[in-house]
Amino acid sequence: MKIISSISRLRREIDLLKRDGKRVGFVPTMGALHEGHLSLIRRARKDNDVVVVSIFVNPTQFGPGEDFSRYPRNFKRDRALCRAEGVDIIFYPSTEEMYPQPYRTFVEIRELDRHLCGRSRPGHFKGVCSVVAKLFNIVSPDIAYFGQKDIQQAIIIKQMIKDLNFPIKMKIMPIIREKDGLAMSSRNAYLSEKERREATVLYRSLCLARDMIRKGERRPGRIIKEMQGLIAGTSGRVDYIEIVDIESLAPIKRLKEQDKIVVALAVWFGKARLIDNIIVTVR
Ligand code: PAF
Repeated sequence: MKIISSISRLRREIDLLKRDGKRVGFVPTMGALHEGHLSLIRRARKDNDVVVVSIFVNPTQFGPGEDFSRYPRNFKRDRALCRAEGVDIIFYPSTEEMYPQPYRTFVEIRELDRHLCGRSRPGHFKGVCSVVAKLFNIVSPDIAYFGQKDIQQAIIIKQMIKDLNFPIKMKIMPIIREKDGLAMSSRNAYLSEKERREATVLYRSLCLARDMIRKGERRPGRIIKEMQGLIAGTSGRVDYIEIVDIESLAPIKRLKEQDKIVVALAVWFGKARLIDNIIVTVR
């Protein structure tokens, strides 16, 4: 497994591999790898000749006062996990390598960043799109892998790939959960024991929403109210709970048969802002 920090060196390696006709799979990460990331890496390993994982805590996607400086970083552990999964190359650039000064170009997406996390994290998706576009240009993967847990990010990147004509196929992989339902996330590390126990309410509230829809409830307001009620029994502070269209991410006023919708939420437990979602087809 090669660990490469320089963009020009990575480009040379990828060029050679491509000249040999190798198919390159790419998993972009910010490190602090968990089973969710590993499921993407395993899928990339299965689909491709070469697997590249990037580890870069991207400063431009964190707002002022967010957790950039305390975001968990443990390169040794990440490196061991990547090695065990048969990763070929870890791309591990510095901030100076990715954003040499003066740095002035960003990628902005319209509409899709207005909803869900975009509302409470202004500028976040501009930072995500910019770094992912840069990584796509550097790695030139054939297939890139993203998790459904960050569903807004996945939908935004799918649109960016189309709009900016990246010759890249994208695969969105299912959410990996702990045994008690909590979605795996690097930010779960911020939870106290009590918060960790309480945080299981998130998946329970999503299942409640899904069950209400299955039983015929069509009013998003009613569903959201029940979910809020469940979360209110814990120390969780709701940032948002929304029921949105899976393509436009716009909130839905009334559910209709065959609608494919996302029930998505962001809830604070102490210092951790956790997100989760469930996709439901209304029938
Ligand atoms: O999902 C993440 O970890 C990040 O947003 C990404 C895609 C690696 C960009 O920094």
